[in-house]
Amino acid sequence: MPAKFENVDWYDSPQYYDIVFAADTVLECDFLEQIRERYGRSRGKRVLEPACGSGRLVEEMARRGYAVTGFDHNPHMLSYTRTRLARAGLRARLCEMELDGFRFRQRFDLAHCLVSTFKYLLTERAAAGHLQCTARALEVGGIYVLGFHLSEYGSTLKTRERWVQRRGATTVTCNTQFWPPDRRRRIERVRTRLTVQEPAGIARYETHWKFRTYDAGQVRRMLQAVPEFDHVATHDFSYQAESPRELHDDRLDTVLILRRV
Ligand SMILES: C[S@@+](CC[C@H](N)C(=O)[O-])C[C@H]1O[C@@H](n2cnc3c(N)ncnc32)[C@H](O)[C@@H]1O
Repeated sequence: MPAKFENVDWYDSPQYYDIVFAADTVLECDFLEQIRERYGRSRGKRVLEPACGSGRLVEEMARRGYAVTGFDHNPHMLSYTRTRLARAGLRARLCEMELDGFRFRQRFDLAHCLVSTFKYLLTERAAAGHLQCTARALEVGGIYVLGFHLSEYGSTLKTRERWVQRRGATTVTCNTQFWPPDRRRRIERVRTRLTVQEPAGIARYETHWKFRTYDAGQVRRMLQAVPEFDHVATHDFSYQAESPRELHDDRLDTVLILRRV
């Protein structure tokens, strides 16, 4: 009989999310610092992370001496982040807010939103609204680092990714499945299955959601609608700051470097 998965929102269990995504944290923060050096014209160390999740990047950037502000709409994620900061003896400002409707009085020098979180914004209006909110929050010359996967509209196959990560006595296996993108509706279905092995036993959780889809042309058109940003470079999830590349459909993992005009 196939294993049964309980239907949950995996972001309500930050401790498992954090185990799965921890591996690249140092690499990503190195990249963010190098990108700020390379493209930024606003030299301060104030960082904003929209949708900061479990706070892995909040903690690492705070450890590196940045004044970090993070927000998320999931209170479990924020509570986990508060606890980890307290444990590390670090400080950051955290708030509960939505990606497409936030506003800060203070200005930032760097903002970042990686690992495809931007694709949770399911309409063009929400996506443009998010970019405008972020532009307003940045100093002129400040940088927004926005990472997400493009979609392969020609594909008719489901694709899968699998990660296995351990922390202490806990092993988390994360299987994510993507259905072929729907070009007309600009939607792709996604399902993540977590299998959590702990000394007390095995638990299985699954979460279904939808992402908005983009190809390179759709990204260019979206950026044209937000003149507050200059698209100064494109990178990819190898996070090599010295190796920019073209925005093109032949490479799906995409990191846009946007500078506040
Ligand atoms: C893939 S995680 C990314 C977390 C973190 N940025 C990182 O790199 O580990 C996505 C996060 O986005 C948050 N999120 C999704 N939609 C959101 C929205 N509309 N407004 C605010 N947060 C949102 C979720 O609660 C979750 O914590």
